[in-house]
Amino acid sequence: SREHLGYSYEQILQVVKFLKLVVPNFKPLVGVICGSGLGPLADSLSDKIEVPYEDIPLFPASTVVGHGGKLVFGTVGGVPVICMKGRFHAYEGYPLWKVVMPVRVMRLMGVEYLIVTNAAGGIPSSMNVGDIMIIKDHVNMMGMGGQNPLRGPNIEEFGPRFPAMNKTYDRALVKAGLKIAESLGMEDMTHEGVYGCVGGPNYETIAELLMLQSCGVDSVGMSTAHEVIAAGHCGMKVFGFSLITNKAILDYDSSEVPNHEEVIAAAKAKEAKLQGFTEAMIKHMGSL
Ligand code: 6GU
Repeated sequence: SREHLGYSYEQILQVVKFLKLVVPNFKPLVGVICGSGLGPLADSLSDKIEVPYEDIPLFPASTVVGHGGKLVFGTVGGVPVICMKGRFHAYEGYPLWKVVMPVRVMRLMGVEYLIVTNAAGGIPSSMNVGDIMIIKDHVNMMGMGGQNPLRGPNIEEFGPRFPAMNKTYDRALVKAGLKIAESLGMEDMTHEGVYGCVGGPNYETIAELLMLQSCGVDSVGMSTAHEVIAAGHCGMKVFGFSLITNKAILDYDSSEVPNHEEVIAAAKAKEAKLQGFTEAMIKHMGSL
């Protein structure tokens, strides 16, 4: 059995077949993975159809009882969208091939553009809590250590054994994102930078943050890179942004301590802005 190596192509097709029965004649153009603070976007879609993860055959089981996530189908300005409200993290114990399974499902549903979002710590001193950072590239600490969602037999139907990553974050979408942020009056809170993915669940030591900083990382979090790798592998165009929910503490004498509550509070405070920005990106993708 190849069970420990990932879902087969046929298994992903089985999920897609199920979803096509739930939303017949619906072909999403844009997929959105809602990180902390972007859940309300999924709730605000027009003509929505919600499918709890636990109702979907073969979907990873949520680790949090009663707070299972869902797929939300709907439209934004007429553009058909599929949202993941709630994602799967490696630190919850999922193998990475489970973490990225919904991305592959989205692709077979017809998704061309993937928007990935996350809450992250900001390393440059110019980044403030509540700012956004459009992701131009990533450093995947987990991947470089051998934990990669593409590990195992390659599924040729999705993409090549050795996929290139240098074009994965679509340059035109980064530029469009910066323009759209400006048009929404968000230019003072918008950055462009490199996302660093670590395994978590602990926040980084000061030495680790200094190392990441010296590697060119601007925002650091525990998600996203895996999904982006799977999306790039199967030929999706990717746009991502981090919400900076806390400033990385690089000073041994600082009295501050990073915590999940400040992350959630910062995300909540920026909900409306993030939603407006993401909706504008979706409409832009619908016009391409
Ligand atoms: Cl500072 N680090 C990591 N790994 N994830 C985060 C974060 C920091 N802030 C929000 N999420």
